[in-house]
Amino acid sequence: MSPAGLDPWAQWLLRDRGGANARYEERIEARVAQYVDRVLDALEPAPPELLLDFGCGSGALGLRALQRWPRAQVVFADPSPALLALAGERARALGAQARWRLLALDDESLRGIGDGAFDAVATRSALAYVADKPAMLAEFRRLLRPGGRLSLGEPVFRDDALAACAQRRALEEVAPPAGLAPQQPQLLRLLQHWRAQQFPDTEQELERSPYCNFSERELFAWALQAGFAQVHVELHIDAGPSLAPDWDSFTRHTPHPYARSLRDVLERDFRPEERALLEGVLRENWERGAMVSVERMAYLGASRP
Ligand SMILES: C[S@@+](CC[C@H](N)C(=O)[O-])C[C@H]1O[C@@H](n2cnc3c(N)ncnc32)[C@H](O)[C@@H]1O
Repeated sequence: MSPAGLDPWAQWLLRDRGGANARYEERIEARVAQYVDRVLDALEPAPPELLLDFGCGSGALGLRALQRWPRAQVVFADPSPALLALAGERARALGAQARWRLLALDDESLRGIGDGAFDAVATRSALAYVADKPAMLAEFRRLLRPGGRLSLGEPVFRDDALAACAQRRALEEVAPPAGLAPQQPQLLRLLQHWRAQQFPDTEQELERSPYCNFSERELFAWALQAGFAQVHVELHIDAGPSLAPDWDSFTRHTPHPYARSLRDVLERDFRPEERALLEGVLRENWERGAMVSVERMAYLGASRP
């Protein structure tokens, strides 16, 4: 639990992902709304009557489904009590009355639901954190009625982790080219240390990490193995400026709850001169608008035969 009494997922979703900055959080919510709409678009041809929002967090996807489809009912399911309660508050505020209910997720809670209970299962950025994805996809299939639809949108962090691995190996194995300014090898080491606090930087760690050890191709193969039909996968890659409105919130945000913020790394891991070097260079890039953020999202749609 955080000092505010929040579990780690609530602490991340409600504070750290937006660097504790309201404007940053608003921009993230607007981006999440786009992802959620894309996930729901795949269900649009036959809007579900009963939808499971798996890993609902504060409810972005299920709330949007209640708004888009006036006859739909939604089960919001999440392991975080604080986020589940917030999803419920938001559904109540929407006036969706008896069209929703909450399900506290633990190892047993889905098993208590009968086969074929749902018309659709949808999830956004939650399956990524499940350790055994093939088993969870098989469970989604069991929960769907014949002809029911699965739609998901998951972040793909594998490339971030592979870049961290490549950079670590280059630093360990390749001598710095002659002619580098004296500060540059040190700067590369500091950058690498920061990157390794956000993504695994060894192949062994990468393979053990549920949110880094898969890509859209594994999702495709696992959905087929789980017995889904009409499996369609799209990978969207977008590069653009960071959504952070200022340098301070950029340094305080984290890309997922298992990452440390740049601010935390600067303050706790580096000596004053190292901190000044890394922050000076990064901040200068930030102020020139040269810091590019890359997002990779895999969307998968499938049907239960
Ligand atoms: C990045 S948030 C996404 C929340 C929401 N789906 C959205 O689009 O805003 C990830 C959510 O997955 C939930 N989660 C984490 N591990 C999970 C697991 N093993 N099974 C189900 N949900 C999980 C967290 O509690 C959190 O609410």
